[in-house]
Amino acid sequence: MTEWWEREGLQYRDGFLIFAGRQVDDLARQFGTPAFFYDGRRFTANIERLRSALDQAGLVNRYRIKYAMKANRFMPLLTHLRKTGLTGIDACSPGEVEHAISCGFSAEDISFTATSLANRDLERLTRLRGLSMNCDSISTIRRWGELGIGRSIGIRVNPAMGISRAQNEKLKYSGVNTTKFGIYREQFGDALAVARDYDLTINKIHFHTGCGYLTPQLEIWDAIVESCLWFVDQLDSVEVVNVGGGLGVPHTAMDSPLDLTRWASILARHFRNRPQSIEIEPGDYLAKDTGLLLLTVNTVEQKMETVFVGVDAGFNIAVEPAGYGLPFHPVAALRQTGNNRKVTIVGNINEALDVWYADITMPPLSEGQCLTLINAGAYSSSMASNHCMRGEFKEFLLL
Ligand SMILES: Cc1ncc(COP(=O)(O)O)c(C=O)c1O
Repeated sequence: MTEWWEREGLQYRDGFLIFAGRQVDDLARQFGTPAFFYDGRRFTANIERLRSALDQAGLVNRYRIKYAMKANRFMPLLTHLRKTGLTGIDACSPGEVEHAISCGFSAEDISFTATSLANRDLERLTRLRGLSMNCDSISTIRRWGELGIGRSIGIRVNPAMGISRAQNEKLKYSGVNTTKFGIYREQFGDALAVARDYDLTINKIHFHTGCGYLTPQLEIWDAIVESCLWFVDQLDSVEVVNVGGGLGVPHTAMDSPLDLTRWASILARHFRNRPQSIEIEPGDYLAKDTGLLLLTVNTVEQKMETVFVGVDAGFNIAVEPAGYGLPFHPVAALRQTGNNRKVTIVGNINEALDVWYADITMPPLSEGQCLTLINAGAYSSSMASNHCMRGEFKEFLLL
């Protein structure tokens, strides 16, 4: 039987889960758990798929991909990415910029979009020649302007529309609720006036309105692109439109992969008669399905009507399932036989929200066995905390 999540590079073979050409059970025995493993080839394949969709839509040489390193900043992964030369970087803090530079990227490769920047952040950034700065507030435009006259900047805009997987509100960056991200139409005139005061040229319009969207959300994507081009049309100086990230991957059997052809054709249609080039800054789409989190089952016990399966790490090292309602599907490293039963998989953190997966029907699991969570390649290790002093894990890049 083929499971919904099986693909080249992640599948059962003769009862063993194989990831990036390795037996997962063997990796767990050699290196211990909890551990994240990333498949470098899958990362590259994800970039190539995106490029090919954009090329086929007629956008050859009109776009650049900037990997959103907040998704996963594991140094070997970034260094590997730099060597491929396939993408630049989207960074959101001075620390990220310097980390990217330490992995071989140059300031010119980096598009910077952040929020609530302190003066000390701005001063640190002015030292980096070639960095592409996107201001997301009038305050930032003013303070950036005060630091030196005559630079080009981008402006992050907020179209008051949002997009996310299954329209999950927690994953939206703009929409019905007013958010801190970007400048709204209502304040855009004021933003332009401040930029003029400091002789700043606006050469980029940037938007990122939410995360994890799939094919059912593409009509909204179309409307968002249209709406953001209004900002571009207020200016003669815009050379680049950064359309953010947010492209999602399937998390459950009910999700289908994002229809990239349709996604790219929407972009191509909007940019057909425009001179601007496009930047895309995906994190999830490139990194998420490259990662597997290996855990060990330590407890299997029925409490009342629920069978709990306890594992050796909790939501603090991968917050998306508990924090954003994004399920990480559990897969046993050795294919189990026996009658399926409903279980709830939980971690080792003393918090009620420390549930990896509630009420999932699976073949029997036993104590001591290796269990993996798929889709752990983005916003997991990069967001991990040491809550309960259980923040330890290992990370490996497989090439
Ligand atoms: C400005 C910006 N760009 C890109 C991204 C990447 O988003 P995703 O990983 O959903 O593609 C984010 C995520 O928070 C972001 O804030």
